[in-house]
Amino acid sequence: MNQASAPKELSLEQQIALLREQLAQTQKMAALGELVSTTTHEFNNVLMTVINYARMGLRHKDDATREKALQKILAAGERASRITSSILGMARNRSEHFEPTDLGKLLEDTLLLLERELSKYRIRVTRQLAPAPPAYANGNQIQQVLLNLIVNARQAMPQGGELLIALSYNEAEGMVELLIRDHGEGIPEDKLRRIFDPFFTTKRGPDESGKGGTGLGLSTARDIIEGHRGRIRVESTVGVGTAFTIKLPVARAAAPAVNVPANAANQLA
Ligand SMILES: Nc1ncnc2c1ncn2[C@@H]1O[C@H](COP(=O)(O)OP(=O)(O)O)[C@@H](O)[C@H]1O
Ligand SMILES: [Mg+2]
Repeated sequence: MNQASAPKELSLEQQIALLREQLAQTQKMAALGELVSTTTHEFNNVLMTVINYARMGLRHKDDATREKALQKILAAGERASRITSSILGMARNRSEHFEPTDLGKLLEDTLLLLERELSKYRIRVTRQLAPAPPAYANGNQIQQVLLNLIVNARQAMPQGGELLIALSYNEAEGMVELLIRDHGEGIPEDKLRRIFDPFFTTKRGPDESGKGGTGLGLSTARDIIEGHRGRIRVESTVGVGTAFTIKLPVARAAAPAVNVPANAANQLA
């Protein structure tokens, strides 16, 4: 008899709560892993540009070549600096804090992080950004959703292709809408029903850029968007492409997030 040391059985509710917590943790780790991979690759690319043009400038003594090399190095350095300030901004705003968020700017920041990756895979980005009021959102979380949707779209177009990104304002519903449309392989009906399930993936593992294969991207996206009282939906046609639409509530002038506590306000300053 070992009444004293026997572990207490967890109730079904407790087991579910524990699993949910573990899933949330796994989702966070997967997202962080992909973000590190993205920024490292982009940064490495900037460094390659700097090194190659520095070599070119040293090899060729004529003014025109040196001028060109220096211009390229300057542009690469400026891009590196934009990348680090975007990442630093994300690190500073790690809280669960919601605030009025400019989704157009968030999209540009996200595309900046994926610039090398998208051009490497020959993805052309078309932007249709209509003026829209700020959404009431946690910028980091929404950026995480955008990163996954754009990488999924890129992976659905292995031969390259066009990626449409649109931002619009649905005044009647009081929602800001984001559209990410690819012209990739599309998703067959039987899979479409499962893509938001945790761990559902059709990928064999991460690709050479270290992305995908966990099946956690869309389940995380759904959790995040629901946490925003927003909506995410998908439409897909095999052989034609896939479109994801996200709706997020507009930040009202009186939204509670405007009255940020003093310490949060300091953090943002
Ligand atoms: N844009 C897309 N085009 C085609 N299939 C997609 C697209 N986005 C998602 N999917 C499908 O949904 C699955 C789940 O996506 P996700 O949750 O991001 O996980 P992962 O990218 O790790 O596979 C993918 O494996 C793929 O089968
Ligand atoms: Mg994914």
